[in-house]
Amino acid sequence: MQDTLNALAAKALTELATIESRPDFEAAKACLVGPNGELTAQMKQMGKVPKEERPAMGKLINQTKVRIQELLDAALARIEAAELQAQLGPAIDPTLPSPDIGPGTHHPLTLVREEMCRILHKVGFSVADGPEVETEYYCFDALNTPTDHPARDAQDTFYFPKTTNFKNVAKKNPDERYLLRTHTSSVQIRTMLKGEPPIRIVSPGRVYRRDTSDATHSANFQQLECLYVDKNVTVRDLKALLDYVFEALLGKNTMTRFRPHYFGYTEPSFEVDLSAAHLPKVKKEWIEIGGCGMVDPTVFSDVGYDPEVWSGYAFGMGIERLAMLLYGIDDIRYFYQNDLRFLKQFA
Ligand code: DAH
Repeated sequence: MQDTLNALAAKALTELATIESRPDFEAAKACLVGPNGELTAQMKQMGKVPKEERPAMGKLINQTKVRIQELLDAALARIEAAELQAQLGPAIDPTLPSPDIGPGTHHPLTLVREEMCRILHKVGFSVADGPEVETEYYCFDALNTPTDHPARDAQDTFYFPKTTNFKNVAKKNPDERYLLRTHTSSVQIRTMLKGEPPIRIVSPGRVYRRDTSDATHSANFQQLECLYVDKNVTVRDLKALLDYVFEALLGKNTMTRFRPHYFGYTEPSFEVDLSAAHLPKVKKEWIEIGGCGMVDPTVFSDVGYDPEVWSGYAFGMGIERLAMLLYGIDDIRYFYQNDLRFLKQFA
């Protein structure tokens, strides 16, 4: 029996060393340690072994069993490693440069944002920036938006917990909260507090609202804000600028119209529509595109400008909306899914 057991261990060693697939492994395992396997057969012989030899024989059987199990484990580990290697493909050298997939292209929102800035730059507007984390002061208070205004509701605005502190965004009042800006109009205030008129800025950037995502809503989107402050600025200047901007972006026949509206920071205030029948996929004649108006005297007083001397206009609009009109895109979510099949169409 001793010889048989030793021979069995030797056989396991040579057989298992050459096995390369799972079916072969399972077959070899069954032959060795399965219910009808050779080791099991030897164990069944124990009854016939003389009593005094049994302890030594039992020990040998156990040793053989352990040895064979080790060989099985090693063979299985080798097969698994080979399977993984097959999945991973040939070895790579991570120090080599990655394959050249070309220079990349601009995102459609970047294209529209840059184009709008270029159009506005031609008539004297320069780009101003502001933080996406804002305080209630810049986003609402200084824009003449009272505490009980619906836009300030926690249902619409992402507020940070009262204990949060952003050292790089200074608070005006110690007990105001931080929030994610709901519009780029906050940059109007930051710009006016920094300097004296005349001011002519365009401020594009990301804004955040507690919207459930669907074809026309996204909890973060981009806006473009303009502010012009000078002497004797009128609604006519505002209308002329918007006519120029939309004609430059969307083509010669684009017209704009104003509808009276209310914003706390402008007086009078308007919603802006543009004629869209010539644009791809748009069935309606007029499409709402943004809000605008003449800067409210309260806003000027708050930032230390004399409303008797200075006048100005401001407007804001969504960049996604513009891009959707320009390119005939009917779902805002495409902008954020990073699907190359979509993005490459704007290359
Ligand atoms: N902030 C407004 C919004 O997010 C848009 C807007 C309206 C901006 C009037 C302005 C303005 O500058 O004067 O809906």
